[in-house]
Amino acid sequence: MNAAAPAPASSAKKLTPASLARRKGGEPIVCLTAYSTPMAKLLDPIADLLLVGDSLGMVIYGFESTLPVTMEMMIAHGAAAVRGAKRACVIVDMPFGAYQGSPDQAFQSAARIMAETGAAGVKLEGGEAMAETVRFLVERGIPVLGHIGLQPQSVNVIGGFRAQGRSEAEAARVLADARAVAQAGCFAIVIEGTSEPVARRATEAVHVPTIGIGASPACDGQILVTEDLLGLSGMHSPRFVKRYAELGPMVTAAATAYAEEVRARRFPGPEHCYGPSSIDSKPEKPAVSTRAR
Ligand code: KIV
Repeated sequence: MNAAAPAPASSAKKLTPASLARRKGGEPIVCLTAYSTPMAKLLDPIADLLLVGDSLGMVIYGFESTLPVTMEMMIAHGAAAVRGAKRACVIVDMPFGAYQGSPDQAFQSAARIMAETGAAGVKLEGGEAMAETVRFLVERGIPVLGHIGLQPQSVNVIGGFRAQGRSEAEAARVLADARAVAQAGCFAIVIEGTSEPVARRATEAVHVPTIGIGASPACDGQILVTEDLLGLSGMHSPRFVKRYAELGPMVTAAATAYAEEVRARRFPGPEHCYGPSSIDSKPEKPAVSTRAR
């Protein structure tokens, strides 16, 4: 092989929690959510970290919050995303109720997620209150991505999805949370929905990378829900979302064209039909249909 030729994507080096932790203050870490094999395959060459977020409860299952998400959902989608990712580091969210009870409960849940999905680590929400749990997991071989600032699993306590860190008390809380989970051993920390000065101070205060979502460019990396940036999650996006595409109208247009052709009997055409076996003898290229070929 020509040594000067760029390595094919499939042999690109696998990114790990440890290699991402070393990116503190360096090249920004690109993170996106992925809940399925096809999406993970598409994003794998682009993103450094793929998060199987419990946001799937709202994005895929249509729940009002992330609270009804189960371990079974996280494991099924986590395993699917892992099957699609060769290079990116895949992290799976711990769902509400699967880790807050005790460090031991968290270990049982995290170990199950790691064993049944093949993910590189787990994410959990919480700062000082979860520091002991983070340390317990890390000391037992489970890489943990922290999540502070706006914590959607605590929506009923904080009284809605609102930005954090805007009062002195909230700013002090976010900073204390960042320090606590960093010292407990998180390899990186998601900071969600937090004012820019506070996110900046938290990023400066810890030795591990911070990953912002609605937390300004001061963070060491960024994450967005992929369906949000594709314009697939409704008309109104939160302020921190940049919609890089509008795929919703494209889905509607494609489905409408299909429906019109079915109703007019123009689809399927002769090229989509199977003839007698003698005509069919030419082997087909592997198809991407989800049904019998
Ligand atoms: O659940 C999720 O997708 C997340 C990210 C938005 C950080 O927690």
